[in-house]
Amino acid sequence: MILILLGPPGAGKGTQAKELAARRGLVQLSTGDMLRAAVAAGTAVGLKARPIMEKGLLVPDEIVIGILAERIEQPDCRNGVILDGFPRTLAQASALDDVLTNKKLKLDAVIELKVDDEVLVERISGRFSCAECGAGYHDAFKPTKVKDVCDACQATKFIRRKDDAPETVRARLLVYYRETSPLIGYYYCKGNLHVVSGMGPIGEVAAAIESIVEGAKA
Ligand code: AP5
Repeated sequence: MILILLGPPGAGKGTQAKELAARRGLVQLSTGDMLRAAVAAGTAVGLKARPIMEKGLLVPDEIVIGILAERIEQPDCRNGVILDGFPRTLAQASALDDVLTNKKLKLDAVIELKVDDEVLVERISGRFSCAECGAGYHDAFKPTKVKDVCDACQATKFIRRKDDAPETVRARLLVYYRETSPLIGYYYCKGNLHVVSGMGPIGEVAAAIESIVEGAKA
């Protein structure tokens, strides 16, 4: 099964992709996570991506397409993947079409998460994650059960993303509307698009996504 979660920064793509991957035995492929790992490791890709990501801009298509195409070939992706943060441009969408065609795979559903702009900024400004296992939290909406202790791995060190500073969030939002939102029309015309309100609580959004995935499977 191949799914795409589409939506602006802070819409809940990563949160939902993680839950859905765990429920369905799929692999979450987040190009943002892959690029952050490359930055942390100081690879050639990471060195190139770092200043671009810090400004909230898009990493060049050829880099991201290369990373994704290589990752989707790995054996753990055979059961299916959830693409989180990819594609983000029409060129990336077209490259994905080619990858799937070559592998004789079909795109099952594109799920657009719709969230009001002011809520996005609020969500991103309160976001933090476990420095050990990457579990995601929010100061107000998803705090750890025990203060400063990760629910998943009990680590006590947390991180906040550099590109979550309010001025960078606005730059990322602008990039989303300019570069990524045309994909909504692209997938609507291909007949793959499903729209979900991402405004409700995390569990409610997950239930709406689940019913789309169940329908796509049938
Ligand atoms: P990336 O890591 O993909 O970031 P993004 O798309 O900006 O998305 P976010 O991770 O900010 O948000 P999300 O939708 O996953 O929300 P989350 O679930 O965390 O990309 C980062 C950068 O990498 C890009 O700017 C670019 O430079 C580069 N990049 C990545 N992919 C690229 C590509 N394909 N091409 C080119 N460049 C690329 O939720 C946010 C917060 O809200 C969390 O705290 C969460 O707990 C909370 N929350 C979630 N859902 C709810 C809810 N329903 N109610 C209340 N709170 C909620």
